[in-house]
Amino acid sequence: MLVEHIVVKEVTKRFPGTLALDKVSFTVYRGEIHALLGENGAGKSTLVKILYGIYTPDEGEVYINGKKLVITSPRDAVAHGIVLVSQTPTLINDLTIVENIILSLRHYNLFTRTRRVYSEVYSVLESLGLGIDPNTEVYKLTYTQKQMIEIARALLLKAKVLLLDEATSYLPLTEKKKLFDFLKKYVKKGNSVILITHKLPEALEISDRITVLRKGKVVGTVEKKKADITVIRRMMFGDTEFAPEAIKQRESIGNGVTLFIENLWVKGELGEYMVRNVTLSVRKGEILGIAGITGSGQIELFEAIMGLRKVERGIIKIDGVDTTNKDTGFIRSLGVGYIPDNPLEHGLSIDHTLAENIALCPKYSSFIIDWHAIRQDADRLVREYGIVTPSINTPIKLLSGGNLMKMLISRELEYATKLLVAYNPTRGLDEYTANKVRRNIKEKKAKEGLSVIFASEDLDEIFELSDTIAVMNSGRIVGVFDKYRATRDRVEELMVM
Ligand SMILES: Nc1ncnc2c1ncn2[C@@H]1O[C@H](COP(=O)(O)OP(=O)(O)OP(=O)(O)O)[C@@H](O)[C@H]1O
Ligand SMILES: [Mg+2]
Repeated sequence: MLVEHIVVKEVTKRFPGTLALDKVSFTVYRGEIHALLGENGAGKSTLVKILYGIYTPDEGEVYINGKKLVITSPRDAVAHGIVLVSQTPTLINDLTIVENIILSLRHYNLFTRTRRVYSEVYSVLESLGLGIDPNTEVYKLTYTQKQMIEIARALLLKAKVLLLDEATSYLPLTEKKKLFDFLKKYVKKGNSVILITHKLPEALEISDRITVLRKGKVVGTVEKKKADITVIRRMMFGDTEFAPEAIKQRESIGNGVTLFIENLWVKGELGEYMVRNVTLSVRKGEILGIAGITGSGQIELFEAIMGLRKVERGIIKIDGVDTTNKDTGFIRSLGVGYIPDNPLEHGLSIDHTLAENIALCPKYSSFIIDWHAIRQDADRLVREYGIVTPSINTPIKLLSGGNLMKMLISRELEYATKLLVAYNPTRGLDEYTANKVRRNIKEKKAKEGLSVIFASEDLDEIFELSDTIAVMNSGRIVGVFDKYRATRDRVEELMVM
């Protein structure tokens, strides 16, 4: 028998200039994994933030187990067994895993025996398939591990309703599989999961039912058994044309070398080598995709190219100019665009407006700032990429996650004339926008001879976008293939060997 766990009734949430949720109603049954899908800015995060007590609804009600729920803070939500895990890790780096967990668990206090917590944490980590010592300092963990610890923490908070807001999107495939297996067992015990993701195959694989939001309204809820990807896409995007245009890729590759890297050694955060003797080159008009599981050295390689991390040995040249250990500003001035792994640390300023963030681009950094041109460009980018924002004067911290990424990508792609260095260039983007970004990258390469080096763990994206595929594993390049000669099996094998 189906038992209602969470019921959302006619919930409306307004922000200045935006109707984020418009009379949203939906039900989550006990024991189900319910996927919440929708394009960037549809209202997904707003909805789970309401369930977690970060926002309060302007109208409407939320019920848990048939009782009306009044939550005004995450503390209240946790007391009702509702816990949110989102994409950005919130752990404190200098503390150990156990210390982080003690800090956030209210049923622990000064008198709690650390040893007891240790064993609880240990067993939860183990049930998630993570063999990490709970006494490890958080700064030593990879992004993936941090994300898994966040989920472990939610479970230790005794979550009965687990809200995952794109929290699983960037887990490596093996970790993701382990987590999904875990979630299936977890809901069998009468718990429920609300899963937000832009990866539709993933949603179809794991969920029991799917609800689609569009522009703040519920389009509908379907049972997984009755859903197929075309139907879901239509619910999400309407009749928007989907297929990426075919662009003749090969023909645009020139002979000149734009990026040249030889015998490169770069250290990671902990002082160990993360990039080991890497030699690579990207020709004019070529897109080089680096396939590899997260943490194989891609981030350190890209930071070294951008002058953000010291090169210990080896050489980097851009268009023949030696840029090894040169200043980032100088490297950017050669026409190099950059999409970093963490846009909020390198690239965007969260408290500033959209137009001001456009102005951060070196293109505008002359003695006199031409605000008129900046505003015109900002308006155009908002239109071209469909960035959902009340205006270009809105602080970007008020944008949805995907719209923030759209802003950064559009700025950098526009700025890059010679080289684009991109880490997961379509992360957080809905399928439609991700397609558009890939198309724009290809177009710029074909028409203007832009060279691109990008990293992605998503093999679909690697095969879709690259001319040449290099596989990175434990800091080394372990294979380089022409896209048309590479097979997925071989690439996957090299990624994990
Ligand atoms: N605190 C806020 N202040 C003003 N506007 C906001 C705020 N939070 C969200 N919004 C707006 O509400 C709308 C819905 O945002 P939300 O973050 O829920 O979208 P989303 O479906 O999660 O999108 P994404 O896939 O990009 O993460 C967006 O237009 C966003 O700009
Ligand atoms: Mg969101």
